[in-house]
This record gives sequence, structure tokens and C-alpha cells, in this order.
Amino acid sequence: MPHPLEQLRDEALRQIESATDEQALETTRVKYLGRSGSISSWGEKMKALAKEEKPVVGKLLNEVRNAVTAAIESRNAQFHLQKESGALAKIDISLPGTPHEIGSLHPLHQMHERAIQIFRRMGFSLAEGPDVETEWYCFDALNTPPDHPARNEQDTFYLSDGRLLRTHTSTVQIRAMESAPPPLRVIASGAAYRRDEVDATHSAQFHQIEGLYVDENVSVADLKGELEFFMRELFGPGTDVQFRPHYFPFTEPSLEVYVRSKALKRGEQWIEVAGCGMVHPAVFEAVNKARDDKAYDPEKWSGYAFGLGMDRLAMILFDIPDIRLFAQNDLRFLRQFA
Ligand code: PHE
Repeated sequence: MPHPLEQLRDEALRQIESATDEQALETTRVKYLGRSGSISSWGEKMKALAKEEKPVVGKLLNEVRNAVTAAIESRNAQFHLQKESGALAKIDISLPGTPHEIGSLHPLHQMHERAIQIFRRMGFSLAEGPDVETEWYCFDALNTPPDHPARNEQDTFYLSDGRLLRTHTSTVQIRAMESAPPPLRVIASGAAYRRDEVDATHSAQFHQIEGLYVDENVSVADLKGELEFFMRELFGPGTDVQFRPHYFPFTEPSLEVYVRSKALKRGEQWIEVAGCGMVHPAVFEAVNKARDDKAYDPEKWSGYAFGLGMDRLAMILFDIPDIRLFAQNDLRFLRQFA
């Protein structure tokens, strides 16, 4: 005569086998193994058994519980499998797939990577700053007085809280000097924004690479030599570089950089590609004020800075006639640089 626990086990196993879905299976589980299930309740009943009976029934209870649990698990797994193969059955694997196009780097991104690679070899490291800036980083610290036209609302995108979209990457000069003492040799790459009338050579968002080198005895010769080196690495050895006097509030003297190269399609023409100059002592003083020290003593340190127009450089390098093409996402345009 089988023990009542064995009877319960056989009954449970039959019901598990005949359960038609997960819900029926769960009902069966609760009936036998739930807190007051008929198998579980034997835990209580054991207390009333004679001493020598306890280990025998305890062992049997464990075996029964394990057998029923295992059966429930394997039936559950069967249900899962059925569901999955049911879903797969609706898929016609003989249909052609949806082809994904292979992308490529945007010409501006390619330009950016080439430029950074050259500057890395020249010993520059990368610095960063946000696109949304304060007037301090964009103007005040850069010796740009409140009545300067660049600060005009016609030229700059202001936010309602007084912050603005940076009009140049020169903001990162200040951020870099505020966070580290000289000597310093950094570049920063990113977007800049101006309320420009959009045409073939002007865009409200454009891209710059800023450079800053501060050390003892940095001179205009260093600035010219290094920018010439950069332009020849980028455009080839037949590249001419010209420096023309200019004005920026934060450099003195200030220069504009023009290039022309016979290796390029429209190589005969001089094209303006950068602004640069020697860091103005007033900029060092502003940084000292913010740092609350004398780290950038203009009597001891000198430096040069430059801002390269990346869109312009890319237009020259890839012979692109219109700056607006960069932002139009026209695949016929982008595929030419894949
Ligand atoms: N920030 C200047 C511009 O955007 C370029 C520049 C950078 C000039 C660094 C001098 C030094 O026009």
C-alpha cells in the first residue's frame, strides 16, 4: 500500500502532464506546493508522527516535493518552447530581408580627424568646453568690451537667462587656463554659432579648431612656423601660407591666415582660413583674476592662439562649393565622401 504522499505525488504528476496551458499549471502548483497545498501541509503533519517515523516520512516528503517541482519546471519549459516556435512559424524566412545601408563619416568629421591627427603629432592635447556659454568665457575674459559689435544681439544667440551660444571656440582658451597653470599646449574642436545671413560661405552654425600655446618666450615666429607646418601637412607641400594683419580684442598682434595650393582644384585663389595672434596680456590678467593667483604672469609667460575655420578647410580640401551642403543631409552629397 503506497504512502499517502506517494499517492499525492502520482496525482500531481498526472495533472501536470495534462495541464493545457501555463495558467492550469500554476493552479496545479498552488494546489500541491502552495503554502497550504496538500503536499506542503505534510510539513505540519510530520510534527504529530512518532519519533522513528519522522526521518522516513521527512525523506519521502523531500523526494516528493522535488519530483513535483521538477515536473512543473519541465512542463513550463515546454510551454515556452511552444510559444517561441509558434511565433517563428509566422515568419517567412524565404522572404528577402531589409537591406541596411553602410554609412560613412561626414566630410566635416573626416576633416576634424585629419586636423586633430596632425596637431597631436605637434604635441597638442585636447581640451573641451560647452556650446552654451556665459558672457565671461565668450567675451569678458577675452578682453572684449561690452560695446564690441560681436556682443550685439544681431550677432549672437542669447538665451533668456543671459547665457549664449558661443560665437567662437576661444572660450576654451579661458577654460583651459583657468583649470591648469602654464605651460599649456591645447586644441579644442567644436561648433560655434553666429546670427549670420546664411549663404554659400556663411552658416549660423560652423566649426572651429582652437589652438593655444603658452610657455616662456613664445613668439610670432612659433605661431607662423607651426601654422605653416599644419597647412602643408593638410594640403600638401605645394601650399603657400600668408599672414595678413588683422584685429582681435584678445590677441596682439593679430593676424589672418590665408592659404593657396597648386595641389587643390581652385588652388590659385587665396582663401582665408583662420584668425590668430599673440595672447593679449589682458587675457592673462582676466584668467589670473578668475584663478585668484598669478599663474599667468604676463611678464613671465607669452602665448599664441589661433582659430581655424573647419568648414572652410573642408570646403577647400574636398572642393565643396557651398557650406550649406554640410547640413542638408543629402545622400547624393554625402556618398561622395564615403
Ligand atoms: N576667435 C576668432 C574668431 O572666431 C579667431 C581667433 C582665435 C583669433 C584665436 C585669434 C586667436 O574669429
